Amino acid sequence: MTQKNIAAIILAAGKGTRMKSSLHKVLHPLGGHPMLLHLMDSLDRLAPSKQVVVVGAGKEQVAEAVKGRAETALQEPQLGTGHAVQAAQDLMAGFDGDVLILYGDVPLLSSATMEAMIAARHGPDAADVVVLGFRPEDTKAYGRLIVEGGELQAIVEHKDATEAQRAINLCNSGIMAVKGDVLFDLLGRVGNDNASQEYYLTDIVKIARGLGMRCSVVEADEVEVMGVNSRQELSQAEKVFQGQKREAAMKDGATLLDPDTVYFSHDTVVGRDVVIAPNVFFGPKVTIADNVTINAFCHLEGADVGEGAIIGPFARLRPGTALAQGVKVGNFVEIKKSQIEAGAKVNHLTYIGDARVGAKANIGAGTITCNYDGFNKSFTDIGKGAFIGSNTALVAPVTIGDGAIVGAGSTISKDVEADALIVERSPAREIGGWAANFRAKQDKK
Ligand code: UD1
Ligand code: MG
Repeated sequence: MTQKNIAAIILAAGKGTRMKSSLHKVLHPLGGHPMLLHLMDSLDRLAPSKQVVVVGAGKEQVAEAVKGRAETALQEPQLGTGHAVQAAQDLMAGFDGDVLILYGDVPLLSSATMEAMIAARHGPDAADVVVLGFRPEDTKAYGRLIVEGGELQAIVEHKDATEAQRAINLCNSGIMAVKGDVLFDLLGRVGNDNASQEYYLTDIVKIARGLGMRCSVVEADEVEVMGVNSRQELSQAEKVFQGQKREAAMKDGATLLDPDTVYFSHDTVVGRDVVIAPNVFFGPKVTIADNVTINAFCHLEGADVGEGAIIGPFARLRPGTALAQGVKVGNFVEIKKSQIEAGAKVNHLTYIGDARVGAKANIGAGTITCNYDGFNKSFTDIGKGAFIGSNTALVAPVTIGDGAIVGAGSTISKDVEADALIVERSPAREIGGWAANFRAKQDKK
């Protein structure tokens, strides 16, 4: 396919009142990533030369989110979808390629469908206006696509449709691909003499037909064109998105023991022969190398997990964690901003923060790096092959040399030489018979 000159106009002026949110509707996330940016990521695969987001209510939030990626055009007041596209006219001056009209609240549209629409604008059966249709189970209040003689003739809004037209199940998603040098001429001819007294984008089909232009329909799956107007619809879109991420992880060679209980972030990277047990949550910026096992109930974000590592159950990896090859992180272990080098083990009930744990070091149960004094964060450096006994407090900044052993129950606040033993423990007192005497006294009371 030769490179097409593509621009996109993304409508996002609607208030999104039903979200009941101070965050703009199109910025609500799926897999931790704003809906609008999901759409723009898919669009990026078509390498558009121009992108305009039409904003209204909450315009500052949207402009900030797309800064450096797209221009914004203000639509005020909002007089309908046709009027919204017209708001982008000045920014589109001189553009004569293909214009994709998209919706910030329809985030799951795939690049393949966008490409199919652009393809329908070219070749022997090229149409001037390409409309994305779908056949929903419930046609609700969608506009209906009137196709006669293999040509799209008009789009009729539900409110304005006859009973016979309402029986048509081919519906308008709203998404279009239009020949750039006729779009604004067509929009200029749109009036507002309809049930809503709005300037309907959909009217350009009938107008284009009247001028002898061609209009056609590309069909998409209902889930791809699903719009998000409420928290309920947001949760449905999240479900679809999670389903796609789980499918992709499995297709790439990961085993998910109970896929429906694993939550991915939009950017989670999962290698081959990875096994993920039930109830695992991935926050943003996690990469999992090959042959990793993640046991049940783990929470990971901002972490790189190296080849063959075993994590959990019940482990928490926080931002800045890097586990090298073959590392083991066991139950009730929290790791933050730390490098755990190859083959090291942190198996039970431990907090490691702002630290390096050298290769093959062993961190005993209940070890805590005391990295925070209420004001500053300090670093703990644990050498390779070191052995940290159970229930040790490492008061940072502190260095434990390679191969050193720290006796259980120690609080270490000074550096330890390589291969030394350090133990900090008050001497134990044993008083023979004391317990028996004590019990006898209590019994007499
Ligand atoms: C529109 C279509 C309808 C289609 C349906 C799909 C028209 C006239 N109708 O109807 O055929 O089946 O979408 O969901 O186009 N917007 C603006 N500015 C405006 C008006 C709308 O930016 O002045 C944006 C909204 O934020 C929203 C989108 O355009 O994202 C669709 O607007 P909406 O009012 O929901 O259109 P519908 O009546 O649902
Ligand atoms: Mg709508």
